[in-house]
Amino acid sequence: MTFFRRWLPAVLLVCASPVLAGEAQPDGEAIYQDNCAMCHSHGRMSVSNTSTWQSLIDDQGVDKLYANAIHGIGRMPAKGGHPDLAEDDVKAAVDYMLQESGATLPSK
Ligand code: HEC
Repeated sequence: MTFFRRWLPAVLLVCASPVLAGEAQPDGEAIYQDNCAMCHSHGRMSVSNTSTWQSLIDDQGVDKLYANAIHGIGRMPAKGGHPDLAEDDVKAAVDYMLQESGATLPSK
């Protein structure tokens, strides 16, 4: 039993790690360029509008932004109109957009 208690957490950790399990991490920048840049590289919702994105983060929180990007909101189509994208792909694109916007993310 000592064996399991000692090593099981380590084994589970290794299996749960996407990198070690050989799963590719989604490339947020590439996903953004292919699926989101046409609407988010200019205008009101441009990633260059730091204050727009800062307000969204402060008012709603990042999880809500993920959900709205995945399910759509207002004139923003679900997954940017690309239903073939995985939810993790959309989240990676949101992460990239928030990083590009220069907004300050809440500490996790
Ligand atoms: C067809 C144009 C269009 C495309 C493509 C698009 N968006 Fe949007 N997006 C919008 C518009 C317009 C809004 C503002 C929605 C509103 O508040 O009415 C928005 C808002 C958002 C928001 C803020 C949601 C909120 O809570 O207010 C996020 C996050 C977002 N988009 C992420 C993405 C991601 C990620 C992609 C690519 C996978 C993407 N968008 C593709 C038009 C687009």
